[in-house]
Amino acid sequence: MPEKLSVVILAAGRGKRMGSDMPKVLVESDEGPLLGLVLKTALFLNPSLIALVTGHKRELTDAFVEAWKKKNSHQVVVSSVVQEQQFGTGHAVLQALPILEKAHGPVLILYGDVPLLSAETLALLAQEHEKRKATISVLTALTSRPHGYGRIIRKNGELAAIRESKDCSAEEQLIQEINTGIYLVDSSFLAPALRGLKNENSQKEYYLTDIVEKAVSEGQRVCSLLAPDFRECIGVNTLEDLTEVNAILRSQRIAKFQRAGVTFCDPTSVNISCGVTIGTGTVIGPNVQILGSSALGERVRIEGTALIQDSTIGADTILKLGVRIESSIVGAHSTVGPFAHLRPETILAEEVKIGNFVEVKKSSLLKGSKVSHLSYIGDAEIGAEANIGAGTITCNYDGSSKFRTVVGEGAFIGSNTSLVAPVEVGKGATIGAGSVITKSVSEDALALTRAEQREIANWSKKKKRSKGS
Ligand code: UD1
Ligand code: CA
Repeated sequence: MPEKLSVVILAAGRGKRMGSDMPKVLVESDEGPLLGLVLKTALFLNPSLIALVTGHKRELTDAFVEAWKKKNSHQVVVSSVVQEQQFGTGHAVLQALPILEKAHGPVLILYGDVPLLSAETLALLAQEHEKRKATISVLTALTSRPHGYGRIIRKNGELAAIRESKDCSAEEQLIQEINTGIYLVDSSFLAPALRGLKNENSQKEYYLTDIVEKAVSEGQRVCSLLAPDFRECIGVNTLEDLTEVNAILRSQRIAKFQRAGVTFCDPTSVNISCGVTIGTGTVIGPNVQILGSSALGERVRIEGTALIQDSTIGADTILKLGVRIESSIVGAHSTVGPFAHLRPETILAEEVKIGNFVEVKKSSLLKGSKVSHLSYIGDAEIGAEANIGAGTITCNYDGSSKFRTVVGEGAFIGSNTSLVAPVEVGKGATIGAGSVITKSVSEDALALTRAEQREIANWSKKKKRSKGS
């Protein structure tokens, strides 16, 4: 990169078209406020300073920037300037001139609502600007849906002007090369050009874009660089644009995981939050959401239709169809599902098996334990290698308080047992099927509360006979 750049970010607008009263640049994308994404890209260019033009509800924008600065302060100076009333993009940059006075090199102007620009494209623009000794360099892009963007007007192939959508003739509306809103401008040209702007247009605004025509009329060198992909130049004016930006961010995250060895059976149906980490060799089926601060180990297999929120999944674990896991830890070599629900504060050690239609809440299950079918385990500690039979329920709630159940190592809980907490089942103990356990059970004992079976011989035949009479 040549001389150090100064960066101006325009962030004063309200964004009426978003249907919100927030400053538009604070609108949340999947990866945080739009302005955060623009600031991150600006940092990559190692600028000498960043001037941020704020206006509508600027106290909110300033608070965001203060927090951002705390995280990045060692890298660059960010100064806010106020544009009291939003008279247009040209008027906005004008407010930043006092800060830019010390700037000698080129000034990079970024719009706070264009969040996906890559630092590579901006570096390319800076190189071109330097190489061609331009006064202004404009980043343009090609799109089949140019509506709403300023159009690039060329004469004999040379950039002559930028015409706003609302000011375009019917013929100009057809132009598919658009203004991305990103420019490099020599500081000596910028100040007088801004001071000379007029607001004689359909919106009665001072358009920054008019400095291009001015430079051309003065015989200055004006260059343009075509962005490699329109998608990185999307301006967020409407909620529809925001949805498009989020879809692009999502597919970029998935592409990054694919490059790191994660397989997606149907990437378009998968949503992975930006803080998530996934180990190599992991295979993710269709319709899966992995959200918050979740972390998946290596070679995890997720069959599909799953939601994992703020949870850790150990290596080689299989999540079968239809699991929901929240704020939990699942150890390595475990199996969960199909159709299982791990609620917050569930901790599964290694080689644990949670089978179909099992719900676990705030419980620890130690190594090799199994809850294979139709159970509820809440506020419990299940020892290593313990086997919890089908339909077992921890009765952890008496209507006002919660109580704990402890099942010792290697214990065997017969099917359809109710463990009425607080209760403890000793190591190696066995509970007979269908028991309601209300008292603690000693190590290696057998406990059962089942009512004794009675048998009345030929009862059915007698019943039929009495009906017939
Ligand atoms: C602008 C460009 C258009 C370009 C498009 C690219 C102008 C006149 N038009 O149009 O050529 O194709 O961006 O996305 O520049 N802002 C202020 N103060 C103001 C007005 C705007 O700070 O007085 C800020 C906004 O917060 C926003 C940015 O400038 O971050 C762009 O403003 P916006 O109104 O969205 O411009 P567009 O109509 O999209
Ligand atoms: Ca815009």
